[in-house]
Amino acid sequence: MKKILSLFACLMMVVGLTACTNAEPADEKKTVNVGVSIYKFDDNFMTLYRQEIEKYFKSLNTDEVTYNVTVQDGKNDMAEQTNQIDNFIAQDYDVLIINLVQSTSAATIIDKCEAAETPCIFINREPSEEDMKKYEGMISYVGADARQSGKMQGELVAELDNKGDLSGDGILQYVMVVGDPENVDAKYRTQYSIEQYQEVSGNKVEKLDEQRGDWDQAKGQEIVANALTQYGDKIEAVFCNNDAMALGAAQAITAAGRTVGKDIYLVGVDALAEAVDLVSTDMMTGTVLNDHITQAHKAVDAAVSAVNGEKLSAYYWVDYVKVTPKNASQFK
Ligand code: BGC
Repeated sequence: MKKILSLFACLMMVVGLTACTNAEPADEKKTVNVGVSIYKFDDNFMTLYRQEIEKYFKSLNTDEVTYNVTVQDGKNDMAEQTNQIDNFIAQDYDVLIINLVQSTSAATIIDKCEAAETPCIFINREPSEEDMKKYEGMISYVGADARQSGKMQGELVAELDNKGDLSGDGILQYVMVVGDPENVDAKYRTQYSIEQYQEVSGNKVEKLDEQRGDWDQAKGQEIVANALTQYGDKIEAVFCNNDAMALGAAQAITAAGRTVGKDIYLVGVDALAEAVDLVSTDMMTGTVLNDHITQAHKAVDAAVSAVNGEKLSAYYWVDYVKVTPKNASQFK
């Protein structure tokens, strides 16, 4: 009888074990909740960027792990964005990817993440160096060095046969259309484009106008239309901190009866498809690739590493690339 009982006990154990092993694969499938907040959805460049983040996360889904990605619109309102981040944290999200509305709010956000032990990847709007020293190994900034894009814009004009100096007086008369200063890209592109132009061309410069266009196409158009009315043929070059504003500038230039490459020059940054089209048909002098695809991938890779318990580097950088009529076809 004892033998039968112990045989029965063994049988039960085996059944139990099998049940356990059978149940395991279903229990093992992991869901990683990722919270993404973009400074505002109504931004040409950041729209491409966030779409690539979602696409790339989807490609990483496997039988073992699902990335559940929630992307929210910060509506250019820091209070709204902070609220979104608070909600992600309250719902115990595993990792955050944040495109700040206000770069100066980074410290507050980092403190919240640290208190909740949530890793956070900042993109596109760089927090200060001091803030990036906080919560080490658990926060990261993924971006491109805007000084480089500014320099490339300066070179695009300085490397023209006439160095953009249509009147031949050794001075480049220009208009600068500036992005939203909440992104340091605006400051650096404004400064370095002109410094590099002077260095490479050996010419002097005269700033006819500088206006803030907030990265926005309609504002770019309005600013350049007004400048063209005020300064007319005196304007030799228009520098825009991004392509959205350059697309607006191109519309204003055409409307004023001017022709890029003949009687005016125009440069942007981002290499949006519409801008690359204009460069390849000589309706824009050039642009600079702001590689949102590589930046999105690096941000996602960093988020995945953090979720897997790896220590993050404080910075991941992506290079800019000059786009001219000669190489534009490679960027389509
Ligand atoms: C891009 C702009 C964009 C801005 C948003 C910049 O790096 O060049 O097109 O509007 O980021 O912060």
